[in-house]
Amino acid sequence: MDSLLIRGGVPLRGDVTISGAKNAVLPIMAATLLTREKCVIRRVPDLSDVRFMAQILESLGAKVKVDGDVVTIQAARLKPVADYDLIRKMRGSICILGPLLGRQRHARVSLPGGCVIGTRPIDLHLKGMKDLGAVISIEGGNVDVLARRLIGADIFLGGRAGPTVLGTANVMMAAVLADGVTTIESAACEPEVVDLAYFLNKMGAKIIGAGSPTITITGVKELAGVEHEVIPDRIEAATFAIAAAATKGEVTIHGARPDHMHAVLDKLKDAGVKIERKGLTLTVKKGGRLKPVDVTTLPYAGFPTDVQAQMMVLMALTPGLSIITERIFESRFMHVSELARLGADISIEGPSAIVKGGRLLSGAPVMASDLRASAALVIAGMAARGTTHVNRIYHLDRGYEKIDQKLAGLGARIQRVDQV
Ligand code: UD1
Repeated sequence: MDSLLIRGGVPLRGDVTISGAKNAVLPIMAATLLTREKCVIRRVPDLSDVRFMAQILESLGAKVKVDGDVVTIQAARLKPVADYDLIRKMRGSICILGPLLGRQRHARVSLPGGCVIGTRPIDLHLKGMKDLGAVISIEGGNVDVLARRLIGADIFLGGRAGPTVLGTANVMMAAVLADGVTTIESAACEPEVVDLAYFLNKMGAKIIGAGSPTITITGVKELAGVEHEVIPDRIEAATFAIAAAATKGEVTIHGARPDHMHAVLDKLKDAGVKIERKGLTLTVKKGGRLKPVDVTTLPYAGFPTDVQAQMMVLMALTPGLSIITERIFESRFMHVSELARLGADISIEGPSAIVKGGRLLSGAPVMASDLRASAALVIAGMAARGTTHVNRIYHLDRGYEKIDQKLAGLGARIQRVDQV
C-alpha cells in the first residue's frame, strides 16, 4: 500500500492546473445511462473514484472507453442490478439509482460506502423517488426501487442538514424521463448540480432553475448522446490555495472557477491571504501576517465542508484562536487527532473545533481517515518541520488527480513510498 513521505518546510512556488471536478463527473457518468446513444465526457480526472464508476457502469452493461481525460460511454443495453461489492466501495455510486429508475423503471443497488464522515443516509434520495411513484424496498443490504410509471411531483428535498447534493442529482435524473412536471424544493445549489443539469439539458432534458433551491423538470420521452466538458474542481483549487498560504509560498492556480469559490476566497482574504484573481487564474501571493478566522461549513454558496479540514490546518498555523464549526457532517473531525500528532492544539466541543493556532508543527507518521482529511494532513506535513509520513493515501487517490506530482511540481519534497 502506498504512503506519502513529505519533508516539510518548503514554500510552494510555481504554477498548477486544476483538473475536472470529481463531484461533477461522477453523476454525469451516471447520467449517460439515461440514453442508448454514445456520450463523450471531457476533462475527466484520473481518479480511483472515476475508475470505480467506470467499472460500475460496465457491470451494468455499458461500454466505457478511457482515452486520457476523455471518457466515452455507451449504454446501449442495461441491466437494472448493480454489482453489490462495487457499489459498497464508493458513496458516489448511489447516483446510478436515479438514471436506472428513469430509463428502466427499476434499479437495485447495495447501500453505498465511501468516506467515513458520518452516517450518510439516503432517505431523501428514496423519498424523492417515492414521490415520483416508485416503490422502495430494502433487503439484504440492497435497495430496490421499482415503478410502473414515474409521474412528475412536487418534492421537498430538505433534510436535517439542509439540501442533499447527490439526492438532488438522483431525483433530477429520475424525473427527466417521468411523465409531467417535477418541482424539487430545497434543491442543492452546488455548481456540480448545475453542471449535471447542463449536461442533461444538452441530452434533451427540460430542466430550469438548477443552481437555485427550486428546480423544475418537465419530463421528456427520451434523451440523446452528447459531448460535455466537466467543470474544474473547486475543492482541488481551494486545497492548492490553502497549501500555498500554509507553506508561505506563491502559487498561480490555472483553470479554476473563482466564481464557484466565493466563500473560500472571502474567508482566505479575511485571514490575510493575498489572492489575485484574473479570469480563470488565481495567484496566491506570499503575504504578511495571517490572522485567525471562524469558519462554519454550510451548503453552497456557504463554506464547503470539503474544505473544512484544509482550512483547519491553516488556522492551526496561524497565531490566535479560531472556531471551526461543521454543520454538514457530524463526524468530520477525524483529522483532529492526527493533526495533534504534528503538534497542533485543537479541541472538539460538539460540532465545533477550537483551534489554538500558532504552534510550530513537526513531522510525524499520520493516518489518513477520509479524502479531505488526507489533503489536510499533506498540507500540514508540508508546513511542518521534519518528515511526515501520511499513510492510507488511497483516500487521497480517490479524489485528487496526481496530487503528489502536482505538489512536487511546485517544489514540495514529496515522495510516494510503500506504507511504513
Ligand atoms: C456530496 C459530495 C461530498 C460533499 C457533500 C456535501 C459527491 C460525490 N460528494 O456528498 O463531497 O461533502 O456533497 O457538500 O458529490 N443527508 C440525509 N439524507 C439523505 C442524504 C443526505 O440526511 O438522503 C444528509 C447527510 O447526512 C449530510 C447532508 O444531508 O448531513 C448533506 O449530504 P449530501 O449533500 O447528500 O452529501 P453527498 O451528496 O453524499
